[in-house]
Amino acid sequence: MGEGRLSELGALAKASGEKAFLVYDPFLKGSETLEKIIANLKNNGVAVIEFNDISPNPRNTSIDAGTELCLKEKCDVVVAIGGGSAIDSAKANALVATNGGECWEYTERAGEEVTRPTKRGLPLIVVPTTAGTGTEATSFAVVNNPAEKRKCTIITPYIYPDIALVDPLIMTTIPSMITALTGLDTFAHALESYISVNATPISEMLSLYSIELFAKSIRKAVNEGENVEARDQMALACGLGGAAIGTAGVTLPHALGQPLGALTDAPHGGTLAACFPQIIEWTLPYAEDKLSKVAGILDPSLDRDLSDTEKSSQLPRILRELYQDLHVDVSFGKYGLKESEIEALADLCFVGFLQDIKAHPKPVTREDVIYLINKCM
Ligand SMILES: NC(=O)c1ccc[n+]([C@@H]2O[C@H](COP(=O)([O-])OP(=O)(O)OC[C@H]3O[C@@H](n4cnc5c(N)ncnc54)[C@H](O)[C@@H]3O)[C@@H](O)[C@H]2O)c1
Ligand SMILES: [Fe+2]
Repeated sequence: MGEGRLSELGALAKASGEKAFLVYDPFLKGSETLEKIIANLKNNGVAVIEFNDISPNPRNTSIDAGTELCLKEKCDVVVAIGGGSAIDSAKANALVATNGGECWEYTERAGEEVTRPTKRGLPLIVVPTTAGTGTEATSFAVVNNPAEKRKCTIITPYIYPDIALVDPLIMTTIPSMITALTGLDTFAHALESYISVNATPISEMLSLYSIELFAKSIRKAVNEGENVEARDQMALACGLGGAAIGTAGVTLPHALGQPLGALTDAPHGGTLAACFPQIIEWTLPYAEDKLSKVAGILDPSLDRDLSDTEKSSQLPRILRELYQDLHVDVSFGKYGLKESEIEALADLCFVGFLQDIKAHPKPVTREDVIYLINKCM
């Protein structure tokens, strides 16, 4: 991590291979930054095959086309530069290149046949350009299947990046709304992993530090995009959140948000922001001690003498005020979910995201999910 470390990419890639499959985010197309990245790889003796067919919520068909090109060109290292969509796409390329088949086969789908990878993917170096998903530090790649209107996740330790090169300078161009929504994704990772039934003392430490950095920096990152210190702190919050979910996983907000993204193509962070206060309110009595700690970090002015019940009950209000400061005004209805799709969305949660539902501190039934979706409309 650190300002300017992107310049080390070529030397790092050279240590892993001779020919890089370079997956880059379309926002970099034609930019001076991309030119420099390619020159840096080539100057270090690494040949480059470029791929940029990446959409937000990356599609299985594009990912498979990428893997085919990577194999055809006999690339021996995968380098990804971009947001979570570009990095997840590259993670799936690296994994499928060595394990064979198509990326969708490897996604977790409860009750369906899932192919389990048996070996590591190609060497993988990632450079995140958003501070949100934490994918640079997770064992996940989220794949969107538009034909089935489903988004599911590949979960395997074989998909961890070998190297994550995190440089805040490449994040100063993120538009403010994307900064806000990706930042809320980071917060979701930290908070969900913190309250997950699979949390451990180490993951809790990562989650809490991530929430502290988020609380300190998110407003500055959104309102002063070129503030490198704020970008740097959000990038660290993001990586820590990723490492925390790598151990403890996520919970109900992601189980609801991910399939909403598949149905409506809404941005991932926005889908989480749209259900967070409602889910927290509904969960409250089951995680009071932890939620009260989070409320205290986000709003240091909260009276220390309040009980955990009183403090934690302030959290939905604190979040709604934060959304106002970040100009975030989202709901499932605004993202285009129709009343007639609510039942289907509830079903999708239980197929693709059962592991997240099981990790939630309060037991969740299908009726609960339908109640919550209605609240988020
Ligand atoms: N693998 C994981 O652990 C994990 C965790 C959470 C979410 N995800 C997945 O990641 C995807 C979302 O990733 P994301 O939130 O980073 O968004 P994204 O990658 O879809 O990017 C959002 C937009 O920002 C643009 N962008 C990215 N960096 C920029 C920059 N520096 N300057 C200007 N524009 C920039 C992109 O071109 C895109 O239009 C979703 O599919 C989500 O499900 C993965
Ligand atoms: Fe996420």
